[in-house]
Amino acid sequence: MATRRLGVLTGGGDTTALNATLKGIALGGEAAGYEVIGIEAGWAGMLADGSAVGLPSSAIDPDRGGTIIRSSRTNLRRVDGGMDQASARITQLGLDALVAIGGDDTLTVGVSLGEHHQSVPVNFVTKTIDNDVGTNPAGAGDYARSEMRNYFCPGFPTAATWLADAARALRTTAYSHGRILIFEAMGRTAGWLALATAYGHPDFIVLPEWPLDVDALVDAIAARYTDRGNVVVVVAEGAIGPDGRPLAESGDVDAFGHRRLGGCSQWLADQLKSRVAHDGGVSAGNISAVIPSYMQRCGRPTAFDRDRAIELGRAAAAAVAAGENNRVACPVLDGDTLATTTHDVGDVLLRDAGGTIIPRTVDPRLYDADSFSITSAGRDYFEPLLGPVGDDYCDAELTPFTG
Ligand code: F6P
Repeated sequence: MATRRLGVLTGGGDTTALNATLKGIALGGEAAGYEVIGIEAGWAGMLADGSAVGLPSSAIDPDRGGTIIRSSRTNLRRVDGGMDQASARITQLGLDALVAIGGDDTLTVGVSLGEHHQSVPVNFVTKTIDNDVGTNPAGAGDYARSEMRNYFCPGFPTAATWLADAARALRTTAYSHGRILIFEAMGRTAGWLALATAYGHPDFIVLPEWPLDVDALVDAIAARYTDRGNVVVVVAEGAIGPDGRPLAESGDVDAFGHRRLGGCSQWLADQLKSRVAHDGGVSAGNISAVIPSYMQRCGRPTAFDRDRAIELGRAAAAAVAAGENNRVACPVLDGDTLATTTHDVGDVLLRDAGGTIIPRTVDPRLYDADSFSITSAGRDYFEPLLGPVGDDYCDAELTPFTG
C-alpha cells in the first residue's frame, strides 16, 4: 500500500521517449512505495484549473511516442499568481515530491517552484530532440566525452536516427533526378540534430552556431553538383547570417520568449535558384527545400532511446526516494559505456555571464565550418548513440555503352 505520493509531468515539445521516462519513474516510484500521479499538460496541470490522473506503471507503454499525460509550454512564472496556484495544487493533490521531465524551460520553472514551495522536493529528467541541455567538456584540448554532463537528452537519439536515415534516403531521389535538395533539421539554436545527419552522408551541413558564409556554400554546392550531378545539403532551422540573425523565423513567440524558427531551407533554395540555376547546369525546378517538421520528433522511440529513458526515469525516482532535491538524472560516458548518474540542476543548466540560461550548443571541436562537415571528434561523440558510421552509397559504378 503506497503511503506517499509522487507527481510527474512532461513539459515543452514532445519527444518519442517521454513515455519511456514516465515508465521508469513509475516503476521506480512504486518500488519505493509511492503512488504516482500524472499532472496533465506540463505546468498547466499545476494551475488551479489543471487536471491530473493516476499513473500506475502498468498503464504506460514505453514504446509509444509522445506523452500520455500531454505537454504544453505553459510558463508558471508568467501566469498571474502561477506559483501560488501551483503551491496550492501540491497541497490539494497531497504530493510529497515532484519529478518534471523537460528541457531548460521546464527545469527552470521546476527550480522556481521548489524554492516557492520548499517542503516538496523537485527532481528532473531532461528531454528534448534539440539535445541542448547539459555541458560540453571544458577547455580547448581533445574533446573529453566523459566530461560531458548529460551526454544526451532522451528523445534526441531517436530524432537523430530518423534525420540521418532521411538524409540518406534523400540521396536516391537527388541522384535519380539530378537534384539539389536542402533538408531542414529542427534544433533551435543548437546544431546537434543537423550534425547527426552526417550519418546519412549529406554533402554539406550548416549549423546555427556558425554564421553562414552563403557565397562559400553556394560555390561549394555548385562545384559538388558539377562533380557528382546531385547534392544533399542539411541546414539547421536556426542557421544564422553574418549579422547573427536567423536566416528565417516567424513572428510567433512562445511563453518562454522563444521565437518560432523554420524556413531557412527555402531561403537557401531561393538563393541557389537565383545564383547557380542555369550557369551551374541545374534547372531551378531541380532545387528544392525539404522540411520534415514534426516527422522528426514523432512516432516510436528506438530501443536504445527507450531503454536509456527508462533507466533515467528510475534514477530520478531513486533520487526522490533518497530525499534528494534539484537533481537531474543524466547519462554519462564511462570509458566507452553509457551509465546513469545524477547532477545538481545548477551543474547541468548553462548560464551566460548575465545569469541567463543558455542552450548547450555544438562544440567547435565537433564541426569543421570551412568544409561544412563533421570532424572525427564529432563522429566519436555520436558513436555511443548511433553506432559506427555506415558507408556512403551514392554513386553507381556504370560504364558508358557506345554500341
Ligand atoms: O524544442 C524542440 C522543438 O522541436 C524545436 O526543435 C523546434 O524549433 C520547436 O520545438 C518547435 O516548437 P513547437 O512544438 O512549439 O512547434
